[in-house]
Amino acid sequence: MGSRLLPERREYRAEPLDVEALPPTPLPLLSMWLADALVQGVPDANAMTLVTVAADGAPSARIVLLKEITDEVLTFFTNTHSRKGRELEHDGRCALVFFWPTAMRQVRVEGHAAFVPDGEADRYFATRPRGSQLAAWASAQSEPLPHREALEQALRDVAARFADLPVPRPPHWGGYAVRPHTVEFWQGQEHRLHERVVYQLSAERLWRRRLLNP
Ligand SMILES: Cc1cc2nc3c(=O)[nH]c(=O)nc-3n(C[C@H](O)[C@H](O)[C@H](O)COP(=O)(O)O)c2cc1C
Repeated sequence: MGSRLLPERREYRAEPLDVEALPPTPLPLLSMWLADALVQGVPDANAMTLVTVAADGAPSARIVLLKEITDEVLTFFTNTHSRKGRELEHDGRCALVFFWPTAMRQVRVEGHAAFVPDGEADRYFATRPRGSQLAAWASAQSEPLPHREALEQALRDVAARFADLPVPRPPHWGGYAVRPHTVEFWQGQEHRLHERVVYQLSAERLWRRRLLNP
């Protein structure tokens, strides 16, 4: 098979980071970078790659949407019986990666995921469009599907079951709050001399930050 051409090399350039002025903890900076990406119109700026590990240590990755960020945790929602849900149940260690191409920025997060309380998951589920609520009941996420019609029938069945009633949160659907111990901010600069700043939580639970070679 012949090789395929990759896109041209791009020069990356953003305003240099003022390292001294960075916040003492990482998630406020992540919120600022996310806000910048949203202002710049980056599509799906809250999409992040989530990496989990299987019982045998094999990693797997997929995109999920960041739905809430505080100064402590990043929250996403999913089917808790899915592959990622099963892997997180076995081992809560995980990694997240954001990439905002027009901003020339990447953020890498490493930490531990834990269930968000049921009340919080209920509140978020209630804000979802009804179609998404029904789909959460109909889809056994990550399980084999014999054919598309089986899913559409499952959707019709749950739509009939709930008729005009509010759709409650399925017991197998919930949120995970990722509490980071390491967060790295990468910003593209000229000649591949990119800027990298990593925040790491010390054993005393204090955040320390330092620069890394690009
Ligand atoms: C832009 C985008 C956003 C997504 N957001 C979510 C999400 O928030 N939650 C989710 O469960 N899956 C989301 N998905 C689907 C996942 O990538 C994945 O296919 C699904 O969760 C099953 O993954 P698993 O089998 O590894 O558990 C999204 C996919 C894309 C492309």
